[in-house]
Amino acid sequence: MATEYLPPRDCFRGASINGWTLEEEVGRGKIGVVYRGIQRIGSDVDHLAAIKIIPNENLKDDWQTEIRKAVKLTGIPEVVQYKGHQAALLDGKAYGCVFWEYIKGQNLRSYVETSGPNVTLTFIESLLRTVLRVLVATDATRITHGDLHEGNILIADPDDRFYDTFPSVPISMRQNSRP
Ligand SMILES: Nc1ncnc2c1ncn2[C@@H]1O[C@H](COP(=O)(O)OP(=O)(O)OP(=O)(O)O)[C@@H](O)[C@H]1O
Ligand SMILES: [Mg+2]
Repeated sequence: MATEYLPPRDCFRGASINGWTLEEEVGRGKIGVVYRGIQRIGSDVDHLAAIKIIPNENLKDDWQTEIRKAVKLTGIPEVVQYKGHQAALLDGKAYGCVFWEYIKGQNLRSYVETSGPNVTLTFIESLLRTVLRVLVATDATRITHGDLHEGNILIADPDDRFYDTFPSVPISMRQNSRP
C-alpha cells in the first residue's frame, strides 16, 4: 500500500524546501501529502504554492504523467498550473516535491460534506461547465485526464480581489468551481 509510506499528518510544518516554508498540511492522497508552502517576496508579498511531497518509495516510473498533462494544459484557467519540481530531504528521508498553483478552498468531497445548502443547481451547473471545459481542452490536446474524482476537483473560495494598480492587469472575480 502506497499510503504506508506517507509521513504523519503535519509533521513537516515549519520545515523548508529551497526557500519555501511549509506552513500547513492541506490534504493527502494515495501517494503523497500536500502542504501550503509560502515564499516571502519582500515584506508585503507572499508567494503561495501547493507542494505535493511524495516519498521516494511511491515515485513509480510514471510519476511525471500528471506533470506532463498539466504542462500541456498550461494557460487553461480551469486547470491548476504546474510550478516546478525537485528532490528534497526531510527528517533524513528522500522525497519528490511537486509545486502547484495554490487554490485556497477545499476539494469537492469536503465542500459537499460541509456546505450542503450551497450545493445549489447554480453551483452544479457551474461545476459541470468547468469540468466540460477541461474535457474539451484535454480532448483538443489529445490527452485524457484519467483521474477525475472529487479529491481532484478544487472549489476555490469566492475571491473578490480587485486589481487597480496596474493598467494591464484585469479585474479578477473568480467564483467557485475549479478542477
Ligand atoms: N493545488 C492545490 N491547492 C490546494 N489544495 C490542493 C491542491 N492540490 C491538492 N490539494 C489538496 O490536497 C488533497 C490531496 O491531493 P492529491 O493530489 O495528493 O491527492 P488526490 O488528488 O486527492 O487523490 P489521488 O491520490 O487519487 O491523486 C486534495 O484532495 C486537495 O484537498
Ligand atoms: Mg490530485
